[in-house]
Amino acid sequence: MNDKESVAEHAAKQVADGMLVGLGTGSTANCFIEALARRSRDQGLKITTVASSAVSALKAQQLGLTVLDFEQVSHVNVYVDGADEVSPELTLLKGQGADLVREKLLATASEQFLVLVEPGKLVERIGQHFAIPIEIMPFAWQLVKKQLESIGGRGYLRQNADKNAVAISAHGSLIADIRFDPSIDIRTLNDTLNSIPGIVEHGIFYALATTVLIGVNGQVQERQASSL
Ligand code: A5P
Repeated sequence: MNDKESVAEHAAKQVADGMLVGLGTGSTANCFIEALARRSRDQGLKITTVASSAVSALKAQQLGLTVLDFEQVSHVNVYVDGADEVSPELTLLKGQGADLVREKLLATASEQFLVLVEPGKLVERIGQHFAIPIEIMPFAWQLVKKQLESIGGRGYLRQNADKNAVAISAHGSLIADIRFDPSIDIRTLNDTLNSIPGIVEHGIFYALATTVLIGVNGQVQERQASSL
């Protein structure tokens, strides 16, 4: 079992009968969906799920899990997903996929948000490896770009996989990948991005993770937000 699989197994064991589980998106979330389906089947648990992307919904359904539509859900017991970066204070960077809006909705709605990573995702500061993904209403992108530049942001609209057009998120937004000065305070940046009209969502997940599970050489280390 590799580290992604062992951390996914560990997280699946924390899901109890009757829970509504939010499913993330990405290679780590896929391992969790597989582990959850196995646990549900082997132990006869009654679990319902809601997915942060069409890809994860399809995978969960194919593995026999019950997947609710977002519109049917007002409360989630536990949301389990990967992340692109995790800071020492458990702020996350997410959104290298194009499903940020649903991911942040689930992270915010859930009683517990378990984040599954390998050590390479741990960083000293958010933005260390990746630009901050920012979803923008298409008609507003020039105005938003100007606002972002006024706070020192520099970057580009994300291109699609074929590099022949801009990428469109699952929500129908454009995605700008923006870098800021490394000294910028992440809480202030989070608040500022939340306040700019035309920004639909962004990849900083501030004070949302409850637990980060780190897979290291077959072992799972746990960091709790409350213990910091
Ligand atoms: C999806 O938009 C992202 O937030 C993913 O959660 C993140 O990219 C982690 O993906 P991996 O588990 O594939 O590294």
